Amino acid sequence: MLNPVRDLKTCFAEQVYPNSLAGYSRQQLIELAKDHGTPTMIINQERITQQYQSLVKALPGVKMQYAIKALPHGEVIKHLHNLGCGFDVATRGEIDLLTSVQVPADRTIHTHPIKKDEEIKQAIAYGCRYFVVDNSHEIDKFLAYKTQVDLLIRINFRNQDAVVDLSRKFGCEIAHLPVLVEQAQSKGISIAGLSFHVGSQVPSPYAHVSAIEQCIKVFNSMTSVDWKILDIGGGFPIEYSGPSPEIEDFCRPINVALRSLNDSISVLAEPGRYIAGPAAIQLLSIVGIAQRGGRTWYYLDDGVYGVLSGQIYDHAKYPITPLVNNDFTQGLKPSVLAGPTCDSIDVIDEDIVLPELKIGDILVATQVGAYTVASATEFNLYPKAKILFLSDKKLLPAI
Ligand SMILES: Cc1ncc(COP(=O)(O)O)c(C=O)c1O
Repeated sequence: MLNPVRDLKTCFAEQVYPNSLAGYSRQQLIELAKDHGTPTMIINQERITQQYQSLVKALPGVKMQYAIKALPHGEVIKHLHNLGCGFDVATRGEIDLLTSVQVPADRTIHTHPIKKDEEIKQAIAYGCRYFVVDNSHEIDKFLAYKTQVDLLIRINFRNQDAVVDLSRKFGCEIAHLPVLVEQAQSKGISIAGLSFHVGSQVPSPYAHVSAIEQCIKVFNSMTSVDWKILDIGGGFPIEYSGPSPEIEDFCRPINVALRSLNDSISVLAEPGRYIAGPAAIQLLSIVGIAQRGGRTWYYLDDGVYGVLSGQIYDHAKYPITPLVNNDFTQGLKPSVLAGPTCDSIDVIDEDIVLPELKIGDILVATQVGAYTVASATEFNLYPKAKILFLSDKKLLPAI
């Protein structure tokens, strides 16, 4: 059964959320698509600045370590570095990216709880000092490097409300913490702090609040450690096809919880989605149309194997708006938006209503900066979307 109200929200987000074209005009987007072709992703530097600055303002005193995995692009990294942001690195490739854009290691933290010895070596050679661990095997890996590192222990706080519950896979039970601390201390490996990630795209700040309160209890009770750092991870939500809390409202209870922390402890956060998500749009066009099962199927030039891969891996539903000037209260028909590949999972939206569109019409997907192109494939050997970086009103090819 079709639900025209929900479906109009999905496909004509502009009607419901005035910013659904991400601040561009329809005409601008159509011209960008004509000039650069489709599929093209456009990353907007100004939006990265706005997102970074609003999070810094909402979490005063918290040092930001951008989670590179969300949108691993050199221009984004360079710009955030210039704004004063640090980085959360998790892999050799992410360190290579930082090195390629000459970002030094002094404001980086290595957050992957599971690493090969050669990855640890490479990160130390780059200059990384802070590493996250969550189990005893990982602590042992640092024995050979104990004069060069400080460890953070990641605690697991399960969160079924998060769109992506990252504590399913990483983090130690809080009850196991004393054993890990004792192991590190007995081997002369420095423990500098605690970290957690309460899950990505969380609907409310109370998982962060509860995790902070539990970490503060640990700091106060385990006095054999010189605690220096609390890393509160990511999770800060953005608006997709439904509303999300304003960032100041979201962060207010987190700031209240952080007030009970001793002043000698630095607080870090690892935002990925909040900074990158709203900073990119994707232009797509219709390459084919067919009638199947009483619905009009529109085949686009990118889909869930490409930039919209976040629909599968990240469980995100991106606002998608056709840029035609049709009167979309008229002539709406049951429709499907599908990606280009030969696989039938490559369907972007079904059971939606759309006005009649034609081959070559352009659509825009917004909020596609985080966990999108980062997980895109070249399945069927469709090349990945072109990426442009909009800086000071000039479009540059993204590196
Ligand atoms: C260790 C770590 N830090 C930070 C992030 C970024 O989280 P978010 O995008 O929710 O801000 C992630 C996401 O997977 C992560 O695994």
